[in-house]
Amino acid sequence: MNIILCGYMGSGKSRIGKLFAKTKAMKCLDLDSEISDREGLSIPEIFKHKGEIYFRKAEIETLKHRLDNLENTVLTLGGGTPCYGHNLELIKKDPDSILVYLKVKLDVLTNRLFHERHQRPLIRDISEKDQLKDFIRKHLFERRFYYEQSAITINCSSRSPGEVVETLEKELRNSKRG
Ligand code: S3P
Repeated sequence: MNIILCGYMGSGKSRIGKLFAKTKAMKCLDLDSEISDREGLSIPEIFKHKGEIYFRKAEIETLKHRLDNLENTVLTLGGGTPCYGHNLELIKKDPDSILVYLKVKLDVLTNRLFHERHQRPLIRDISEKDQLKDFIRKHLFERRFYYEQSAITINCSSRSPGEVVETLEKELRNSKRG
């Protein structure tokens, strides 16, 4: 069985993915790292030199390849992955994978991302916190539709990574797939 983590930038996908994988003795893979390895460029470099459309195509190809070769793994997606092409359908129809949405409130995301925005191509040029908040609000409104099709949603805003992992284990037991 595989766990696929989705959620907005800054929702803690990588950190929680690693912790969950360690707890359950699973492998942990990160889609952005795989794209970066395949392209020989960092994600910001791909955006800068090749553009977002190129990145989205690379993301689709890398996801397809990865879903065909996934076993006992926690896969962390990029914030936009479920929202482009047929990515969400591919994930949902994979009988060996469960999609999990790590849901974080707007204020928490804004605070976290404001300090990290320089490494993130989509928000790096936003200088004011209020502008960032407006951007995330609108973006989340568009993306929520996709994220909310996950089999499991975990409210993460007031939970530590350890508590998110425990909650996820419980949810999986309840759905009899953990
Ligand atoms: C993106 C999120 C990033 C990365 C890329 C685009 C997005 O991943 O895939 O910069 O569209 O939200 P993280 O969510 O891991 O930051």
